[in-house]
Amino acid sequence: MLIYQSGFGNEHATEALPGALPTGQNTPQRPAFGLYAEQLSGTPFTVPRREAHRVWMYRIRPSASHPAWRRIEAGSAAGVLSDPTPNRLRWDPLPIPEQPADFITGLVRMLANQESGGVSVYIYGANRDMERLFSDSDGELLIVPQQGRLAIATELGRLDVAPGEIVVIPRGVRFRVALPDGAARGYVCENHGAMLRLPDLGPIGANGLANPRDFLAPVAWYEDRDESTEIVQKFMGSLWTTTLDHSPLDVVAWHGNLTPYKYDLARFMALGTVSFDHPDPSIFTVLTSPTDTPGAANMDFVIFPPRWMVAEHTFRPPWFHRNVMNECMGLVHGAYDARAGGFTPGGLSLHGMMSAHGPDAATTERAMAADLAPHKLTDTLAFMFETRQVLVPTQHALSLPQCQADYDATWNGLPKLFTGNAP
Ligand SMILES: [Fe+2]
Repeated sequence: MLIYQSGFGNEHATEALPGALPTGQNTPQRPAFGLYAEQLSGTPFTVPRREAHRVWMYRIRPSASHPAWRRIEAGSAAGVLSDPTPNRLRWDPLPIPEQPADFITGLVRMLANQESGGVSVYIYGANRDMERLFSDSDGELLIVPQQGRLAIATELGRLDVAPGEIVVIPRGVRFRVALPDGAARGYVCENHGAMLRLPDLGPIGANGLANPRDFLAPVAWYEDRDESTEIVQKFMGSLWTTTLDHSPLDVVAWHGNLTPYKYDLARFMALGTVSFDHPDPSIFTVLTSPTDTPGAANMDFVIFPPRWMVAEHTFRPPWFHRNVMNECMGLVHGAYDARAGGFTPGGLSLHGMMSAHGPDAATTERAMAADLAPHKLTDTLAFMFETRQVLVPTQHALSLPQCQADYDATWNGLPKLFTGNAP
């Protein structure tokens, strides 16, 4: 059972050896236990203080001590983008590889924004523990496990993450993923834009949606291992490798607010109507990556968790709509309330800018005929990465046999109900 520190974006302080963390200063002439002081900056030095994220690490060896990086084949992790398409797209769950695949090998780039900032969306399927380490210089990683737990060892400590939880690894932080259940699949949103944060709550007030205290950062943990250790980093879309003569997971103490963190989506306090109609789905935002334009997110991470539906005289499923934003959806478990079929756990869908979508014909017919008693949606956990920029599929994603050729047929059979011209 691992220990965590509670709070979102807090200044945490932790030491695996009592006395390892200096008090009153960051860079003592000789840190305790022969450690080196090293700062990792996740934001530029001079951003407004409330935006600043950095961590001071006290480690056995400084990260600077390493041989040159060498570029390696990136495989499906570096899928080339296809042309932008206005078409709606959906994929069945990708199978977990039969060949040996660790978390890095198992990354499949599915969608990405083309312009600067933005995000890339991956599905991972892995069947073996990482023996090497990984870090992503291109963005922070929001990982949404769908099948199988992840035991993640990072420079700043360890996190155990199960389906139903999420974990965020900051840009540049080194980590290793082990698979306690032997096989694992899930989603990754690589956020190239501003770091994820909690959304403002406006009239909601000081509580609700994801509450800060439910975000958990690790405590300091280290391994003092003088063995050959490979590190792979993603840099500007390519993978690069180098090999150390020691483990870089050697941070004995740290303090700061740039940390990995995890969150149990079951802790999300879902809000919704108690009269009629629907709030916009932004009411389900867990985390947001803002842009310079207020409210126009680089990426919103939105969930559709179990919840009560009580709206009166209302079409209760998500309504038909076209959206200036781009919606990429996944499903952790159960069923999504706008689909009678075709969208299964591990699947992925894309409804891009101005593409028309909404409930399928069977769901629509059922919703119009339903007795509107209070009803609880159970066994459901869908989510959305919603982006300001257009999401473009990779050539590889379009070539997969899991890419559904008949997705448009989802909206076949919506009957003409208009009675205005009836005699
Ligand atoms: Fe939508």
